[in-house]
This record gives sequence, C-alpha cells and structure tokens, in this order.
Amino acid sequence: MQAQNHKTLIVHYLPTGANSNTKKLLDIFISEVKNKKVTEIENLDLLKTSVPIFNEESISAYYKRNYQGLKLNEAETKLLSQNDNLIKQFKSASLIVLACPMHNFGYPALMKAYIDAVVFHNETFAYNQKMMQGKRILTIYSSGGVYSNEKFNFEHQNSNSISLLANATFKFMGFDEVKTIGTSLRDSESYKNNLPKISSEIKEIADNWFN
Ligand SMILES: Cc1cc2nc3c(=O)[nH]c(=O)nc-3n(C[C@H](O)[C@H](O)[C@H](O)COP(=O)(O)O)c2cc1C
Repeated sequence: MQAQNHKTLIVHYLPTGANSNTKKLLDIFISEVKNKKVTEIENLDLLKTSVPIFNEESISAYYKRNYQGLKLNEAETKLLSQNDNLIKQFKSASLIVLACPMHNFGYPALMKAYIDAVVFHNETFAYNQKMMQGKRILTIYSSGGVYSNEKFNFEHQNSNSISLLANATFKFMGFDEVKTIGTSLRDSESYKNNLPKISSEIKEIADNWFN
C-alpha cells in the first residue's frame, strides 16, 4: 500500500505531558513523517476528549443497531453519537498511531476505552471480513521495563499485553499491518542504551510506510 496523500491519525494519551518518554518516541515518528511531507496528520488528544464507556442503555442501543440491524430512535441514536464521531474519524485515516505509556503491563485505561469505543460491529469489524483492509496501525509506548514485543506469557519480561491486544484486535479487524514498538527510557543508562535502537526502528517504520 502506498501511504502517499493518506491521512495519519495520531491518538495520544500522555498524562506526563512535556516530560513524557512516550512523547519523545512519538516525536521521532512525527519528525520523520513530516520530513516526507506526504501525509496529512490529525491529532486526537485523549486527555481532552470525552471517550464513552458502555452503560446499560448504550450497549443495548449498540446491539439493537449494530447486531440486529434495527433502527434506533432519536434518544438511542444520541447514546451512540460519541462512538459514531470517533469511528468516523478512525475510518477516515489510512495510518493510525496510538501513543501512550504502558500502565500495569498494558494499554492505560483511557486508551483501552478509546479502542473499545471504535471497535464496532459492522463499522470497523465484521466476522470473516477485513473491514480495515488497506490500513496500518502502529502503537508507540514507553515502559519502565523492556519487553518482548512478540511473546506473551506469564513471565515478567514477556508480560506485554499491549502487543498481545494490538495483534489480536487489529488483525481481527483486518488491518494490513499491525506494529507495536516500545522501550524503556527510565534512567540515563536505559536512555543511552535504548534510544538509538528504538529511534532507528521508528524511522524504519516511517520510511517503509511513507515510501
Ligand atoms: C500507573 C503506572 C503504571 C505503570 N505500570 C508499568 C508496568 O506495568 N510495566 C512497566 O514496565 N512500567 C510501568 N510503568 C512505568 C511507565 O510505563 C514508564 O515510566 C513510562 O516511561 C511512562 O511513560 P510516560 O513518560 O510517557 O508517561 C507504570 C507507570 C505508572 C505511572
């Protein structure tokens, strides 16, 4: 897939703000992409966005509309309007970047809530269909420890549920490529050891995606 002239959506949750290690990694990706001048970038800051969580009413509207194919009344439609807006934005991009720290071995709650808000039956996934075909998704995270990106088991160093969840969910949705990249920049030693390697990996992804 050629990424030329395609929109990139960057969804970020960076509660440590200017001091964020994740932001350092995201900035490497952004500056590499900006050098290419081939894509429109849209940002979604989850700290400034209201992300819906299903309650009894909204999940029943979701089942009614998205599984049973029934029409919703005005009040029910309103219950899903935040999801619908986020889904519209999600679908408008060919490249999606999720950037957040690792919290408790996984996506922080707000990023997981965002994922749950946009993974919608017959909108972004359907059984035996690749609704997100032609699109790519990258997760950039930073963590205190260093994790294997490919394995998941219950040994501490491999307990990276970000990679597991990204692969399971986004491949299920039919994305052409699902990548997860992260490291620890926790102290000067890990900064010195890990930053050069991750920088070149991030640049390589950007180069591959935008050439
Ligand atoms: C609430 C919380 C939970 C965390 N859980 C983990 C964890 O499970 N594994 C890990 O390696 N680091 C964990 N960390 C460390 C952060 O992932 C690490 O400091 C990261 O670089 C923070 O990114 P930021 O600077 O972008 O906020 C946690 C930090 C916080 C605040």
